This record gives sequence, C-alpha cells and structure tokens, in this order.
Amino acid sequence: MRKPVMAGNWKMNKTRDEALEFIYAVSDKLPSSDKLDSIICAPAIILRDLVKRKGSALKIGAQNVHYAESGAFTGEISPAMLSTTGVDYVILGHSERRAYYNETDETVNLKIKACLNNELKPIVCCGESLEERENGSTHAVLERQITLAFEEIKPTDLANIIIAYEPIWAIGTGKVASAEMADEACGFIRSLIRKQYGAVYAEEIRILYGGSVSTKSVSELMAQPNIDGGLVGGASLKADSFIELCEKAI
Ligand code: 13P
Repeated sequence: MRKPVMAGNWKMNKTRDEALEFIYAVSDKLPSSDKLDSIICAPAIILRDLVKRKGSALKIGAQNVHYAESGAFTGEISPAMLSTTGVDYVILGHSERRAYYNETDETVNLKIKACLNNELKPIVCCGESLEERENGSTHAVLERQITLAFEEIKPTDLANIIIAYEPIWAIGTGKVASAEMADEACGFIRSLIRKQYGAVYAEEIRILYGGSVSTKSVSELMAQPNIDGGLVGGASLKADSFIELCEKAI
C-alpha cells in the first residue's frame, strides 16, 4: 500500500503574510500524516518561516535547488543551505524550469543525487508537450526523462523519491488529462521503474499526476491504480481548496 500524497506547488505566488495566513488556516484541518503526505512547495525565501509554523500534518518543500555544494553560482541555493531550513521535499525538473531556466535531464540527475546526500526528498517531474503527445512520442519522452534522471540512483534511494507526471499541455490550462490517460502514463512510468529496479521497487514508488488538478477532478484521478496523488498548482493556493484536495486524496 502506497501512502497517498497531495503536494501543492505554489510557484512564484504568495508574499510572506499570505503564506502564513494559509498555513494557519490549514494547520489543524489536514488529514494526519499517517494517512496522507500533504506538502506545500513554496518560494525559498519563506521556507524557514513555514517550517516553523506548519503544524504536525503538513510538510514543506522547495521548488528548486542547485546540485553543487557551494561555489560561484550567483542567485542559487545549495542542497545543504536548503536542508538547514528544515524542508523535507524539493521539486526537481518542473517543466517551467526546463523551459525557462535550462533545466535538463542531466541536471535533474545531478540534483537528485545532491538532494539524497543532504536528506532532501526529490519530487521528480516529467511529462510531454502537446506536440509530443500529438505526434505519438509521449512514451519515448517519458522513457528518456526517467532513464536519465535515475541514472546511478540506488534502489534503496527510491523510498525517498516521488515522481510527478505532468503533461505540459495540462499545466495551468484548465485542460486536465482524462483519468485514463493520466493513469496510462503513470503506469508506463511505473513499468520503466520495474525494468530498471524490479517489481518490488516499482510497486513501492509513488507517482503523482499534475496538470489542472481541481477539487472536481481529484477523486477520479486518485481512484486510478497507478496514481498515488497530485502535484497541484492553482488549486493549492486557497486554503479551503487545498484542504478539500487533501481530504479527497485519502
Ligand atoms: P496547475 O495545477 O495550476 O495546472 O499546475 C500544475 C503544476 O505545474 C504543478 O507543478
């Protein structure tokens, strides 16, 4: 049995005051952490504040990290620095970072290793563009992304890694993938893990769907055998909506 996950990706939204207001509003209303991993991935500047005030049910994540330990990387944050904020998770390889900030399969792999070395749990994103979906290369894209991301990653590390399938055409568009389509892609990703690590690890790893998940679509998505949770942008920004997503995820 895989524990479900509901992860909010706030992207570049919320000032410190808005973020704290959210945290106080959800703190005693989320399902307990033995039933669900509920996670908010927030901008780096407010992570420490959120970790201090998050309550027992919520976990906090970052949205990016550098792979180097230190060095001349102006504006970047190292895994060790991030670790001192007390966050548990880090989103890696989000399609927005791939599109706007030169994130590649190779840097995602380096970042996964750096996170694992610093007790940070990666949420590794993958997913195809509309053009790739339409020309039938979805599986090839996912295979490339997953194979390169997991190069030299040990099987025993998989328990600390979450995968998020986020078709780019469904992100922020209101166009949620059908539950069957999302499940098929998550099942394919699971089969890639099976090929590389064997059936036991493939059954254990948690795979999320992301892309216009809402309080309306979440139950049907969660009912699919290969979908273990959601990575949610827009619908995670309001406290009521995030609480409802979490309740419906269990
Ligand atoms: P939306 O839920 O706003 O479509 O965003 C999805 C996403 O990119 C989460 O990482």
